[in-house]
Amino acid sequence: MKTLFRMIGFLALLGGTAVHAAGGDPEAGAAKSALCMACHGADGNSPSPEWPSLAGQGADYMAAQLALFRQGVRDNALMMPMAALLSEQDSLDVGAHFARQAPTPREADPALAASGERLYRGGDPVRGLPACIACHGPQGLGIAPARYPALRGQHSVYSYNQLKAYAAGTRRPQGNDIMQVIAAKLADDEMRALASYTQGLR
Ligand code: HEC
Ligand code: HEC
Repeated sequence: MKTLFRMIGFLALLGGTAVHAAGGDPEAGAAKSALCMACHGADGNSPSPEWPSLAGQGADYMAAQLALFRQGVRDNALMMPMAALLSEQDSLDVGAHFARQAPTPREADPALAASGERLYRGGDPVRGLPACIACHGPQGLGIAPARYPALRGQHSVYSYNQLKAYAAGTRRPQGNDIMQVIAAKLADDEMRALASYTQGLR
């Protein structure tokens, strides 16, 4: 457990000191994002709870995820052929475009919000479960330079599915396995509560 907490300290440090990547061109990204709108929405807010909203998400995080889809490390039948159409520069550009858009505020389920908030803000030291707030922030904004994704306003169905995928090992982050370690400690009802709470953050 000590190792996990040391790793979190290290990651938090990274978040504070990481240098900005070269970055993309949002104007060029807007021109390249026509194909994406069908699923992610014209304003980056996706119309289906199964598909993630991209509005206001970190540009470098999105470019990194697009590379993982291209490499087949992140496996999704809808998204892999889309990512295959994009070069690395395209990915930085579309990332910069979506990062500028405003996420539509959504509500948490009042029946789940309190238990979700407790875990999100406090974790559970008894189980060695770190607080989500350390990396995803008090308002769910994430830490863009460290590529910690924003969770605020994200569809709870999508976020829940991602937690399930980390726990099952079907979504395998590169570089660190922190989300797999964390998700494996969460019970199903805790994943639902956390996904609902973060959907309501703004
Ligand atoms: C046919 C529907 C569809 C289209 C079109 C589509 N996507 Fe996706 N996208 C998805 C789905 C579904 C996911 C979630 C996959 C998963 O669960 O792993 C996703 C995930 C993503 C993610 C990861 C988001 C996150 O929070 O981790 C990014 C970035 C992304 N898409 C960018 C794009 C871009 C850029 C385009 C246009 C070039 C595009 N998508 C077109 C369906 C689509
Ligand atoms: C030490 C930092 C850290 C902590 C603590 C942490 N996360 Fe994460 N989280 C990350 C990183 C990094 C990623 C992106 C990993 C990847 O590339 O797949 C991520 C991804 C996610 C995603 C997927 C987002 C998307 O757009 O696809 C969800 C959902 C999530 N975290 C929820 C949580 C919850 C809930 C908690 C608390 C129980 C938590 N995280 C704690 C660092 C953290």
